[in-house]
Amino acid sequence: MIQLPLQATGIAVLLLILSTSDHIDGFKFILLHTNDMQARYDQVSAKGGKCKLIDEKLGQCYGGFGRLATALDKYRKEESDPVLYLNGGDTFHGTPWYAVYQGKMVARMLNMLAPDAMTLGVHEFDDGTDVLAEFISLINFPMVSCNLKLIDEPKLEASENLRNFTIIKKGGRSIGIVGYIHAETKQRTQPNHIEFVNEIPEINKYAMKLRELGVNIIIALGHAGYKKDIEIAKMCPEVDVVVGGQSHTLLYTGRAPGKDIPEGPYPTIVVKPDGRKVPVVQAYAYTKYLGRMSLEFDRAGNLLNFKGQPILLDNSFEPKSDIEAFLDSYRQVIDDMERHVVGTTSVFLNGDRKSCGFGECNFGNMIADSFVYAGVQETLQDRGSWTDAPIGIINAGAIRASIDPGVITEGDVITVMPFSNGIFHTRISGLQLMNALEHSAYLRTKNQNNGFLQVSGLRIKFNYSRPMGQRITEFKALCSDCQIPHYERVKTDEYYGVVIPSFLLNGGEGYNFVDKHNPEVRNMSLLDRMAFIRYLQEHKIVYPERQERMAEQERYLRSNGSTTSIPLLYPVAFLLLFHCFSFVK
Ligand SMILES: *[C@@H]1O[C@H](CO)[C@@H](O)[C@H](O)[C@H]1NC(C)=O
Ligand SMILES: *[C@@H]1O[C@H](CO)[C@@H](O)[C@H](O)[C@H]1NC(C)=O
Ligand SMILES: *[C@@H]1O[C@H](CO)[C@@H](O)[C@H](O)[C@H]1NC(C)=O
Ligand SMILES: *[C@@H]1O[C@H](CO)[C@@H](O)[C@H](O)[C@H]1NC(C)=O
Repeated sequence: MIQLPLQATGIAVLLLILSTSDHIDGFKFILLHTNDMQARYDQVSAKGGKCKLIDEKLGQCYGGFGRLATALDKYRKEESDPVLYLNGGDTFHGTPWYAVYQGKMVARMLNMLAPDAMTLGVHEFDDGTDVLAEFISLINFPMVSCNLKLIDEPKLEASENLRNFTIIKKGGRSIGIVGYIHAETKQRTQPNHIEFVNEIPEINKYAMKLRELGVNIIIALGHAGYKKDIEIAKMCPEVDVVVGGQSHTLLYTGRAPGKDIPEGPYPTIVVKPDGRKVPVVQAYAYTKYLGRMSLEFDRAGNLLNFKGQPILLDNSFEPKSDIEAFLDSYRQVIDDMERHVVGTTSVFLNGDRKSCGFGECNFGNMIADSFVYAGVQETLQDRGSWTDAPIGIINAGAIRASIDPGVITEGDVITVMPFSNGIFHTRISGLQLMNALEHSAYLRTKNQNNGFLQVSGLRIKFNYSRPMGQRITEFKALCSDCQIPHYERVKTDEYYGVVIPSFLLNGGEGYNFVDKHNPEVRNMSLLDRMAFIRYLQEHKIVYPERQERMAEQERYLRSNGSTTSIPLLYPVAFLLLFHCFSFVK
């Protein structure tokens, strides 16, 4: 046996005591999290779309609330440490399920998953604050969001279940959860009387309050995108962990299963100015993954350890039977919609935001055409002119998906246009119309590319190298009071009839489509998707093209909010070089 000097033995004993007491103090728990589930109650394809039979057979469908519930049960049962499950918002909207059963069903489905807390996403505001208040009254867990001013929204203000923060007890310790939402939420959703204020000062305010209440483990749970999450981790001294949403960011260390390309490691480690590390997590979207991280804190609330990886919810998780049975009892209406063929497309209907948010896209053209068509039908009896609204407009953010060539079902249309937007006829001056399109050219270069407009009945040339407000270099509109429609230069002081969705009429994305002095607005009493379905049904087979409705005189690639020009000369130079070389040969 080795004889240790007395002093050394003393130190060893002391170390042993220290490490054991550390062990006793170290509080461990498992954090599970999801975000942006967007009403994916049923399993989804690899990209979050409808799970097709062929993909299901190949084992290439994922997630769904049934699998998620099974995974939650598994970890809640198997883990020796307490389990905390948080939801980062945007559970509303995105499937026929939502369109039919709306917020009430979201509440029932979420209650079955039983998160410890949730934060508000942007889509939770999409059907107005009355619907939201009802939803919040139906959920059995707290909703947290700290950067909303609710003075002018009495129903929300009075809601006991909507709080700035909540305190959750697990294993004898208190965990504080502070909620936040993107400060620019207002113009991206239905009109309301909420003031959305900057996230960081409010988080700091309520985190301090939590500290005063003796809570020293603080999680910021929010819906503002990965970039903002990182900023919060850095700038909020009391925040120990950030659980995010909105940007559909998959974080994964190493190669992710399920063919997704991670945008960063899981967790993303942010170092605060004082050197402390803060893990930032998010788990893609559409229930495909469940985020899972184990955390250990000491008694003073210092984060000692953290480790995890999102779990791919694949076939190894059997969907939970009570969830499936519940869905099956409501499935008939959904199945009918998914079987109800409303038309056929011979071409790909491109609704991708990377296309529709930056320039003309064929799907945008077609939807805008369907608005004009609805107007033409309305005025069929009036032989005075072919229409009083030759122009149709829709914003890119209203188009939520693409459709592959083949038959189109009502379910497909609802997935593309899930918002219950009515369409309206509005009469505005040429100047106001031009200002709207200038605003569109401006929004195109902003990070959120939902605001760009798709048009029918207009021919516009944009030069994006010109300063803001002066980018339109040519602007023509289809005449309405003419025997044969043709394009004429837009006159600033003349009036034009335009068909737009209620979202734009109500000032969504900062647009103004109502004449200030002499407003003339007519409710067409038709949902945007019904106008589109009618167009499909009556045209039977469609093959919309990309035309030159919106021409770009200077081509631009968007990278990071700034714009970069692709010199048009490059291809020419390349060709010249190529010719030189072939000549030399
Ligand atoms: C947050 O707290 C403030 C008072 O500090 C209160 O006016 C507000 O309604 C609270 N917000 C929520 C969502 O409960
Ligand atoms: C676009 O605008 C830029 C800046 O004003 C100008 O230099 C350029 O010639 C314009 N391009 C065209 C095709 O008009
Ligand atoms: C427009 O008409 C529809 C259907 O008639 C109705 O439900 C809706 O409330 C109306 N909207 C407005 C703003 O009047
Ligand atoms: C955008 O990216 C370019 C090139 O990658 C870079 O030079 C520029 O600084 C970036 N701009 C912003 C606003 O981040």
